[in-house]
Amino acid sequence: PRVLVLHGPNLNLLGTRQPEIYGAETLDDVNSLLREKAIAAGWDIECLQSNHEGVLIDAIHSARRDGTQAIIINPAAYTHTSVAILDALNAFDGRVIEVHISNVHKRESFRHHSYISLRAEGVIAGLGIQGYLAALEAIIKANNK
Ligand code: DQA
Repeated sequence: PRVLVLHGPNLNLLGTRQPEIYGAETLDDVNSLLREKAIAAGWDIECLQSNHEGVLIDAIHSARRDGTQAIIINPAAYTHTSVAILDALNAFDGRVIEVHISNVHKRESFRHHSYISLRAEGVIAGLGIQGYLAALEAIIKANNK
């Protein structure tokens, strides 16, 4: 099985960007932890970050054709704006889990609405980078059932 992990805009700055909100770990740290866990469970994993909406959409389109079972996505600011990413995810048949590092619900009200949640099977927010690992664990467990 195969899982795609998508990170949206500004997440390349993880570790240096508002560490009081997003923590000290870098995106490489996150991806290494995910890779380790996926490989231990016998999964293929691809991790991609982009600051460009269309690149994220193209990656979701590729996932329709390359045998990807599940997508873990932190759409970052596109969460709150992108009908286009929602539409792309609606064209993907596998599982989708939405992750936010911060608790978006205790932040500005414009972060309270997510277009992506209309498609996501589960949403994890506020657990820091641990949220990504919890999402991956849920995907692995569901596949073993
Ligand atoms: C975020 C929350 C979003 O509101 C914000 O725009 C981000 C990151 C999070 O992981 O907490 O860039 O998705």
